[in-house]
Amino acid sequence: MQESIERAVDQFRALLEEQLARVQRMERAEAAKDFAGMDRITIGVIGGDGIGPAIVAQARRVLESLLKDELALGRVTLKQIDGLTLENRLALGKSVPDDVLAAIKGCDVLLKGPTTTPKGGTMESANVTLRRELDLYANVRPVRVPEAGIDWVFYRENTEGEYVLGSRGVEVPGRLAMDFKVTTQPGTRRIARAAFEYAKNNGKTRVSIVTKANIMKKTDGNFSAICHEVAADYPGIEADDWYIDIMAANLVNPAIRNQFQVFVLPNLYGDIITDEAAQIQGGVGTAGSANIGDRYAMFEAIHGSAPRMIEEGLGDYANPASILRATELLLRHIAMAKPAERLAKALEICCETERAVVVTGDRSGATCREFTDYLLQNLDQI
Ligand code: IPM
Ligand code: MG
Repeated sequence: MQESIERAVDQFRALLEEQLARVQRMERAEAAKDFAGMDRITIGVIGGDGIGPAIVAQARRVLESLLKDELALGRVTLKQIDGLTLENRLALGKSVPDDVLAAIKGCDVLLKGPTTTPKGGTMESANVTLRRELDLYANVRPVRVPEAGIDWVFYRENTEGEYVLGSRGVEVPGRLAMDFKVTTQPGTRRIARAAFEYAKNNGKTRVSIVTKANIMKKTDGNFSAICHEVAADYPGIEADDWYIDIMAANLVNPAIRNQFQVFVLPNLYGDIITDEAAQIQGGVGTAGSANIGDRYAMFEAIHGSAPRMIEEGLGDYANPASILRATELLLRHIAMAKPAERLAKALEICCETERAVVVTGDRSGATCREFTDYLLQNLDQI
């Protein structure tokens, strides 16, 4: 047992040093890329696993239609990136194979299908690896239910918290296991800044800081305090504090939920509550997700690869709405507001007002291709 303790202590020292080095790198951060000033943009398109290839193929068709002129002029390039499949990752023993990562780093932004994470073992989730490798620190997830007055945007911290060392906890076999949660000064400051900037630039008047600082006193306590420091630079915006448990209840409380606007929260709480929020909007198949860093950005569906649908032969019946919303977020991010607006309008017609072709996730509904045909017809009218 003494040996296990020694090993754990050594491991902890190494982790601490590594995280402090990360803090230093963040402190030297450069200015964010300005897409409006770029004359060539490469969009990487990654199918992923399970239902991923099916829904991403449809999102690609939509991009090809929306960006027809930009593609023809070479202003935008779509680059298909293969190899981010579970089989390949398991065969190579790498959550993101080196050649795939190199191809990804050659792009400016990515449209990515869901990737399956093996349970247990030591293989990290490809998402977590990519968020870390590309330093995609802001996970932005909008959720809207107009008829209920809901218009929320979640700013989930995406590179630290419970995730950064989630595959590197310590264990005294048969006795105990311990994982680590990390909150850093610059890591929190940058997500808080992103949330408040978004609020300021979009006429929002309230940012809700969500933690469990009464229990996780160091990590969440610092997260909340740093968010309040940043809030002081935004006098027109109210910053309020909530614990994650009551916020989970608030989101299903019709009496108050429409008063929330922007949320900023640590990684794991953000993961959980954005699934809840997406379900309120109509299901996890309906919400898009942006992973944004200063240099790269990755856009994806909020949901996973749905292996059960594949087992049941229902892959073609997967709902592409979430990846299409992610596509809209991607277009906004690369300063293509007009095509983004067209897509938003078409999604509103096809998913909310008209709903002439409906995807149900099984054979009772349309396939993702049929839904996309319907969406493309509508796009032509907008
Ligand atoms: C998400 C997903 C990921 C996460 C998984 C796939 C690692 O649930 O993007 O919300 O936990 O962040
Ligand atoms: Mg999640």
